Amino acid sequence: MNGTLYAVGVGPGEPELLTLKAVRTLKEAHVIAVPKGYAEKESVAQLIIEHFIEGKDILELVFPMTDNKEVLKKSWQEAAGKIGRLLKEGKNVVFATLGDPSLYSTFNYLKSTLQQQFPDHFTIEIIPGINSFSAAASLLQLPLAEGSQNMAVVSTPQNTSRLKDILGLFDTVVLLKVHRYFEQIMECLSDLGMENNGYFVSRCGSKEEYCSQDLENLAGEKLDYLSMLIIKK
Ligand SMILES: C[S@@+](CC[C@H](N)C(=O)[O-])C[C@H]1O[C@@H](n2cnc3c(N)ncnc32)[C@H](O)[C@@H]1O
Repeated sequence: MNGTLYAVGVGPGEPELLTLKAVRTLKEAHVIAVPKGYAEKESVAQLIIEHFIEGKDILELVFPMTDNKEVLKKSWQEAAGKIGRLLKEGKNVVFATLGDPSLYSTFNYLKSTLQQQFPDHFTIEIIPGINSFSAAASLLQLPLAEGSQNMAVVSTPQNTSRLKDILGLFDTVVLLKVHRYFEQIMECLSDLGMENNGYFVSRCGSKEEYCSQDLENLAGEKLDYLSMLIIKK
């Protein structure tokens, strides 16, 4: 019998923010697959769950931090091949993913690739996790939306006029993947007179957790990939 693939949301960084179901699934799985951006670096997801997976077989999967579609596709195919073979051997495999699996997770590419690559219908289960912006809002003690307010969660658009449109439309905007576009974001905020409306949070839930409302002070800094901005009107 084929094994089951579980996508487990491991939350933003603090092991205590895993759900009971996530911990049970990790403990019961035969193999834990952990994504990483660079072969030589540690997997952040693995660091979060290390206390729950002692003695387990670990499958490290490298998904390069690139926009090159061919390179990405190759990494999804390789990962799907490795996971598919384990499932065919009857192993239950967890794919550990940061935050929640439904929000910008590699898991979704992996799932489609697996379904294309293997005609068998593997059973897949998704275990939700606490996403990074909920954890950041808790850290800041900041309500994301109240009453009839609306909010958007977006991957920072490269296009500044699109970013301005989004900032104009919503009461709260959560910008993810800000590290590459911080200067453009600051320019937009300044043009809109909103330079003091942002909250920067990086590595939320980890030992390196950092937050600041002094955005101008961050300009020119090398920002961590695990950084976001919450902007409130
Ligand atoms: C690929 S998305 C993954 C989002 C994740 N699935 C979630 O539910 O939060 C990665 C982006 O999420 C944000 N992020 C994830 N973890 C974070 C953390 N611990 N602290 C701050 N931002 C984080 C950053 O904006 C990062 O660039």
